Amino acid sequence: MVNLIVAIGKGNVIGIGNKLPWHYKEDMKYFKDTTMNKTVIMGEMTFKSIIGYLNKPLTGRKSVIATLSDYEYKGVEKTNDIISYLNNYPIDEEIFIIGGKIIYDLTLDIADKLYITHIDKEFDGDVFFRDIDYSKYKKISEKISGELNFSIYERVR
Ligand SMILES: NC(=O)c1ccc[n+]([C@@H]2O[C@H](COP(=O)([O-])OP(=O)(O)OC[C@H]3O[C@@H](n4cnc5c(N)ncnc54)[C@H](OP(=O)(O)O)[C@@H]3O)[C@@H](O)[C@H]2O)c1
Repeated sequence: MVNLIVAIGKGNVIGIGNKLPWHYKEDMKYFKDTTMNKTVIMGEMTFKSIIGYLNKPLTGRKSVIATLSDYEYKGVEKTNDIISYLNNYPIDEEIFIIGGKIIYDLTLDIADKLYITHIDKEFDGDVFFRDIDYSKYKKISEKISGELNFSIYERVR
């Protein structure tokens, strides 16, 4: 099962200066709880952004770096072909695509489920999620907390 998880502000903004434009503890906890003990796959830029925040990869999860370069990080798996990686991923195991923009653009059409935190606020940004055709999905869960809306969508096959 291929999942994609993202937080999206007004105007589809998702990042600025290789960082998140916001800091919501509740969303960080949601991200952690949702991905804990799972495999997470991310682009090289997002991996480096996480290292910038934490000084190490995400704890309790297996990280995979998607990159076309020869970038490596000790002890972390990497792939130069994220599409093949996801298409060959065991169907009965869960993997989460966790960004960033290039990786989301490449994989949106492969993901079976979208975990989207919609943020009802404007932020400056330099990377944006592409428009989602919601007619291709069924919303299977929604929780609203202030300006955060935690929704899960399943692809309609
Ligand atoms: N709001 C959110 O939930 C969220 C989540 C994660 C990240 N972000 C934000 O997104 C931004 C980073 O996004 P980004 O687009 O700059 O970088 P990115 O998606 O994290 O990384 C892109 C990487 O993918 C590689 N790549 C391209 N095609 C590939 C393929 N077919 N197979 C494997 N790897 C491939 C690129 O290699 P080359 O460089 O060699 O082309 C590049 O290294 C940051 O601002 C971050 O904070 C937001």
